[in-house]
Amino acid sequence: MTQRGAWEADELVESRWREVDAFVSATVASDDEALAAAVAAAAAAGLPEIQVTPAQGKLLHLLARSIGARTMLEFGTLGGYSTIWLARALAGDGRIVTLEASPEYAEVARANVDRAGVGERVEIRVGPALESLPGLGQDGPASYDLVFIDADKANTPAYCEWALPRVRPGGLIVADNVVRGGVLADAESDDEATVAQRRLHEMLAAAPGVEATTIQTVGAKGYDGFTLALVG
Ligand code: SAH
Ligand code: DHB
Ligand code: MG
Repeated sequence: MTQRGAWEADELVESRWREVDAFVSATVASDDEALAAAVAAAAAAGLPEIQVTPAQGKLLHLLARSIGARTMLEFGTLGGYSTIWLARALAGDGRIVTLEASPEYAEVARANVDRAGVGERVEIRVGPALESLPGLGQDGPASYDLVFIDADKANTPAYCEWALPRVRPGGLIVADNVVRGGVLADAESDDEATVAQRRLHEMLAAAPGVEATTIQTVGAKGYDGFTLALVG
């Protein structure tokens, strides 16, 4: 570890990450009007600008499409940006439930998903996710095709543990912010979120029939990563 912290990349390198993200979102993974409007409305309402990038949103969309997902669960709605990408991937009359702690954020998200024309496919449940889970209608085995975990990082393992028996064979669990500037490698860390993301990996490694990996990412949101788990 260097003194500045291993995660602080050179400014020039970081601006390059941004430029590449800009190119990717100007070509293959572009926001359309509704996605751009969702980002603008969230910023105008003062929400933190921590939604997935267009490239990451498109990845979620492609993953969901690839498995023909009809039922999805999202932890952490924010302004509904990732929700829109996922909802647009839903097959047939599919539905996504998304869990958000903040009523203010949920209100912004509701307007955004409605504007995007996917409102009827999106159910937003307001409150801490752990409190919403017992009330979900579909809580039996194989209820979900895809679960996206992107809320409070300390609870990622708890969300994953809840999701594992509820994702159908061939379904996916995706978790955001698992690398967080590289601290995932820090076995001595007492940071709650770091400990939690390391625990997530140990849990997935030990889960029978589950195959997972983590891909480190760079881009407009810095150095981070996604974990992908295929449930057997
Ligand atoms: N998935 C969004 C970004 C989510 S940011 C996107 O990419 O567009 C993380 C969100 O989790 C924030 O909106 C935050 O309010 C929410 N959150 C934090 N703690 C939570 C909890 N305990 N339960 C549900 N949501 C929570
Ligand atoms: C934060 C949360 C996220 O989901 C993210 O992608 C980036 C940052 C945050 O809480 O700071
Ligand atoms: Mg995130």
